[in-house]
Amino acid sequence: MSRSEIIGEVEDVEELLEDVETTSGDSSGASAYLQDTNPFIHSLFPVLFINRDLKILFANKASENLLTGFKELTGQYLTDVFGKFFTFEDIRLIRETTIKGSNGYSWKGEVHIKSREMVSIQTKIYIFPAHIDIAEPSEFVVMFDDVTEENRGLLRSVFMSLLEASKLKDNDTGKHITRVNCYSRRLAMELFNKKGYERIDADFIDNIGFLASMHDVGKIGTPDDILNKEGPLSDWEWKVMQEHTKNGAFILSTYPNPMAKEIALSHHERWNGTGYPFKLEGDMIPLVARIVSIADVYDALRMPRSYKPAIEHGKTIEKIMEAKNTQFDPALLDVFYHIAGEFEELYEANQDKN
Ligand SMILES: [Fe+2]
Ligand SMILES: [Fe+2]
Repeated sequence: MSRSEIIGEVEDVEELLEDVETTSGDSSGASAYLQDTNPFIHSLFPVLFINRDLKILFANKASENLLTGFKELTGQYLTDVFGKFFTFEDIRLIRETTIKGSNGYSWKGEVHIKSREMVSIQTKIYIFPAHIDIAEPSEFVVMFDDVTEENRGLLRSVFMSLLEASKLKDNDTGKHITRVNCYSRRLAMELFNKKGYERIDADFIDNIGFLASMHDVGKIGTPDDILNKEGPLSDWEWKVMQEHTKNGAFILSTYPNPMAKEIALSHHERWNGTGYPFKLEGDMIPLVARIVSIADVYDALRMPRSYKPAIEHGKTIEKIMEAKNTQFDPALLDVFYHIAGEFEELYEANQDKN
């Protein structure tokens, strides 16, 4: 965006704000939101009532439940609370709806609403007059239609099918990927309140809790004789095996969140730069991959495999802590060590049934 465009936008915003100050908050005595007959008070549909200036007059229980990260909706301006989630054009059109009566005083749109504490909400928004029998309405209903679960469910079911397909080939058990999700999520939750991990928000925790399971999805492209070979791999077989990271990133590149790709591509990188596929070092390795690699290795050590017995919790912790600064991020390992007892509980609670 050019400087003149930015200045133009700032002037436009100032003009809109002037509008907010000069238009009257006159409710014409209607106050639909205060009436006992207001059907939205107990409605399942999240609803706000606003006046022409976009001031929130009333928020029903369902809207408070939906917008848990936002305190005290009533009395604030819609643009102050949700302004950053709307495009500038949306705000302009909403203002024209309530002030000038565009489109019969109605507007519809879709926004992503998020805060650090709250998982993103994808919602359709409908604005329309609170009274249909008033020529110049002064109160409006803002109705939210939360489509987050619908969209997320659809997206995740597609990627779950992919995971199921990859499980047909990989000799890792089903519960391994469930447990890696659980450990990764737990570690991310622990980091949430720690200084230096501000980028971890509710979405990060929710996503890692689903996407960690995808770390080896690229093994779908690894030849069976290499994947199932007993005994050590030859140099070229090992090279082919390592390709599962890039294959996974390629497969997951259609997932809308880059986290999926980062996990698949970088979960075998090592803190000291000796991992694969790119020998990334330290902070160059995406945080999400550093978390998943601890979770994956913990579980891989714990569970029995055809070529090794199960290792008990204490010994596993010892082995992992020995790899501080070499394989794993030392700061993350300290956090892991602090909550390692919960990893053991998660392992025990999600045992494979034979
Ligand atoms: Fe892997
Ligand atoms: Fe794994």
